[in-house]
Amino acid sequence: MTVTIVGAQLGDEGKGGVVDLYGDTADVVARYQGGDNAGHTVVHDGEKYKLSLVPSGAVRGKVGVLGNGCVINPRTLFDEIETLQKKGLDPDVRVAERAHVILPFHRVLDGIEEDVKSEDDQEVGTTGRGIGPTYEDKAGRRGVRIGDLLDPEVLRDRLEYVVPQKRALIEEVYGADVSDLDDPDAFDVDALFEEYREIGERLAEQNMTVNASAFLTDAMADGETVMFEGAQGTIIDIDHGNYPYVTSSNPTAGGAAVGTGLSPNVIADGEIIGIVKGYLTRVGSGPLPTELGGVEGDTPGYDKQGDGENEELATYIREEGGEYGTVTGRPRRVGWLDMPMLRHSARVNGFTGLTINHIDVLAGLDEVKIGHSYELDGEELLAMPPTTEEWGRCEATFKTFDGWDDVDWAAVAEEGYDAIPENARTYLEYISDELDAPIYAVGVGPGREETVVVETPTTAE
Ligand code: GDP
Ligand code: IMO
Ligand code: MG
Repeated sequence: MTVTIVGAQLGDEGKGGVVDLYGDTADVVARYQGGDNAGHTVVHDGEKYKLSLVPSGAVRGKVGVLGNGCVINPRTLFDEIETLQKKGLDPDVRVAERAHVILPFHRVLDGIEEDVKSEDDQEVGTTGRGIGPTYEDKAGRRGVRIGDLLDPEVLRDRLEYVVPQKRALIEEVYGADVSDLDDPDAFDVDALFEEYREIGERLAEQNMTVNASAFLTDAMADGETVMFEGAQGTIIDIDHGNYPYVTSSNPTAGGAAVGTGLSPNVIADGEIIGIVKGYLTRVGSGPLPTELGGVEGDTPGYDKQGDGENEELATYIREEGGEYGTVTGRPRRVGWLDMPMLRHSARVNGFTGLTINHIDVLAGLDEVKIGHSYELDGEELLAMPPTTEEWGRCEATFKTFDGWDDVDWAAVAEEGYDAIPENARTYLEYISDELDAPIYAVGVGPGREETVVVETPTTAE
């Protein structure tokens, strides 16, 4: 049985922590999409680990696989491995030969396109890691794959085709001068060839490249157990999210099959756990019907919706929850939980269980709200509409819950579910009932032990 961890909202729901929590029974933890745009946090024994590419299972010493659906920046991958080594870990990371490589020009293009879009308030607010431009090249059949780095002739051919196109794009479409860029070598075939050929050698020497599909299948045939770690979240999925304010991959459960080369049967035979933050946060642009307050300039093109006036409460939750981007340090926008969003998410992913995090952050508020439904053109909607323009016009209808006190959460985690304050349990059970999925765990703090575990999905058969 596999266990797939999926972000149910807009990213940063606490996926890394849940992979760490449940990772004990897994031998291998595989990422299936995204790249170093992810920022997953694991807190254990007073140490905080921030992971962007290395699967979070590394904290427990599990083998990590970056599947074919990922986009890999080898520079940041090696940096991250070194940083983790300095913290005493020994990450064993295998990279799919079918995964695409984020090259330096992808980052440059990500930045320039965002700048141009921002002139018309259309920027996505990307992490600037070159994610979109790399997936564009993948779909455009001009990408460079990890396997290409292992074969100098192929690498040179690929670069000779693609680099002049990118240089022309920069110079002729965007009117920029390549020599003015921070990294002018980003558009130089020879410099790129030398650097990436060496990276290929390093990957080969360290035995880091795999055929992910075969590697994972063989591991399972040998009795090893596999966990999938989604990055980002359902509402920033390129197909099921609020396009164009999305990332360029499929964080949803279906992505786990496509992005690793395992059959959908394998994923569906296992557990698919939706990670829900007890409220909402968003980094980057786009509508947010249950938004509280907001960060100036972060919602280009959209008026704040919902209770957008309530800046003080948003600031309170942001500070209590430490809601600043793991990758970029940007303050996260904050909102109440949004059920129409979660119903859509549950439908798309088929959650077999839920982990609901950050219940401690909401403690001490007199009342806590949840957007139960939307009103759009006089009609009630229970799930978010497919167009972002419509979603931007939705007004949330709220359900109000009595708040709960701040308590000794570590003691609660030890005692179990019934020790959670009653009002918080009412809140949790409403979410579980609406989504028709059982609660597997409740996050009451960032640490591995600060979790109320109700059910432990096992990767063992
Ligand atoms: P991810 O991207 O989904 O892995 O989530 P992030 O690591 O970006 O953001 C989640 C943040 O909340 C991290 O700082 C976690 O350590 C922290 N966190 C996770 N679960 C809880 C929880 O239940 N309570 C509190 N207070 N913090 C949590
Ligand atoms: P984790 O895995 C939250 C957002 C960016 C932007 C949009 C596109 O930590 O949950 P991209 O750089 O991917 O092209 O940016 O997606 N975004 C995330 N938001 N958590 C993440 O990852 C994110 N990764 C990307 O802010 O709005
Ligand atoms: Mg994150």
